[in-house]
Amino acid sequence: MSSTRIHKVAVIPGDGIGIEVTAAAIEALKTVQAKVGGFELVFTEYNYGSRLYKETGSYTPKDWLDTLSRHDAIFFGAVGDPDVPDHISLWQLILPMRYMLDFFQYVNVRPSIVFEGIDPPTRCATPAGGELDWVMLRENTEGEYAGQGGRSHVGHPHEVATEVAIFSRIGIERFLRFAFETAQNRPRKLLTVVTKSNAQRYGLVLWDEVAAEVAKDFPDVDAMTVRMVSKPQTLDVIAATNLHADILSDLAAALSGSIGIAPSSNLDPTRKAPSLFEPVHGAAFDIMGKDLANPVAAIWSASEMLRWLGEDRAADLVYEAMKSSLRAGKKTRDLGGTLSTTEATKAICDLIQEIEVQ
Ligand code: NAI
Ligand code: MG
Repeated sequence: MSSTRIHKVAVIPGDGIGIEVTAAAIEALKTVQAKVGGFELVFTEYNYGSRLYKETGSYTPKDWLDTLSRHDAIFFGAVGDPDVPDHISLWQLILPMRYMLDFFQYVNVRPSIVFEGIDPPTRCATPAGGELDWVMLRENTEGEYAGQGGRSHVGHPHEVATEVAIFSRIGIERFLRFAFETAQNRPRKLLTVVTKSNAQRYGLVLWDEVAAEVAKDFPDVDAMTVRMVSKPQTLDVIAATNLHADILSDLAAALSGSIGIAPSSNLDPTRKAPSLFEPVHGAAFDIMGKDLANPVAAIWSASEMLRWLGEDRAADLVYEAMKSSLRAGKKTRDLGGTLSTTEATKAICDLIQEIEVQ
C-alpha cells in the first residue's frame, strides 16, 4: 500500500537576502519532491518581518506561534532591516520562535565542512590529510540569551545595565544528552564541551558537572572539556552555551569558506513543537536584491529539514547535488565564483534531477 506522506511546512522568508535564498531552497525542495515522490511538502508562506513591523508596529500578527505550531516544520530565511535596531527584530521574531511552546527548540545544530571545490581562507584549521568537519551544537534557550537583565538610572552618567546568563540543570542536561547522542552517531565519536569555567565559576561549573554525569551514560564517546579552542583538528562535535556557540559557529562558517554555506537547525528533539531550519547568515544589506546571495546555506538547511521529516533519500539527493555543484566550481562570488543566486540554484536543481544516490 502506498500513500503520500504529507509534511506541512511554514515558510517565513523574512527580510533582505532571506527572501532570495528561501526562494532558492523552495525550488530545490520542489525539484527533489517531484523526483523522489512518495511525499508532499505543503508550503504556507507567512509575511513576518521588517515590512510588517514598519506597517503595523509588530513583526508578527496575533496568535502567530499557535499558527506556526500547527506545522510539521518551519523554514526561515533571515530577518533584519537597516532602519530597525537589531535587538528589536531578534527579540520580536527569532528568539520567540526558538522559545516557542515552552521553549522546545533547545538545540541549534550548525555543521561546518570544507567541501571539495572550496578554498578555505586558512589552511591552519584543516587537519593534515583530512578536512574540517565539525558539528557545532548551540544550547538554544538559556545561557546569555535568556533575556534576564535590566537598565537603571537611564540617561544618567551612572547608568547601569545587567545581562544575566542563566543555566538550569534540566536545560544543560537535555542539551548535552543530544550532544552525546550526536557524537555517538559519528565515526570519530568525539565530543568537546566548550566552557569557560575557570573565570565563570557558577553556571559553567554546573555545565562541567552535568557533562561529567551525562558522559557516564555514553562510555563510547570520548568527551573532553576545553576552555579554549586551540586545536581544530582534534574537534568533531562541539557543544557550547548559547553565546559561545553563536560566536564559535560564525567563525566555523568562515573557516569552511563562507557564511553563505552555513546551515542551521533549531531542533525540538521531543518533537512536540515543529523544528525550524534556517541559514546561519542574516539579511546581508550589502548584497540584498542583487541576485548575489549564495543559496547553499539555505539549500543545505532544506536538506536538513527533509532529514528531520524522515525523507532521507530526498535529503541525501539535495545534499549530494549541492556538494557536486560546489565540486564542479558552480560557485557564487563569496566563494570566489561568478554565478548569481539564480544560476547557482539552477545548477543544484539540475543536479538533483540528474544524479542518483544509493
Ligand atoms: P549577515 O550574515 O547578514 O552578513 C554578513 C556578511 O556576510 C555580509 O558581508 C554579507 O554580504 C555576507 N553574506 C551573508 N550571507 C551571505 C550569502 N548567503 N551569500 C553571500 N554573502 C553572504 O550579517 P550582518 O551584516 O551582521 O547582519 C545584517 C542583518 O541581518 C542585521 O539586521 C542582523 O541583525 C541580521 N541577522 C539576522 C540573522 C538571522 O535572521 N538569523 C543572523 C545574522 C544577522
Ligand atoms: Mg538565519
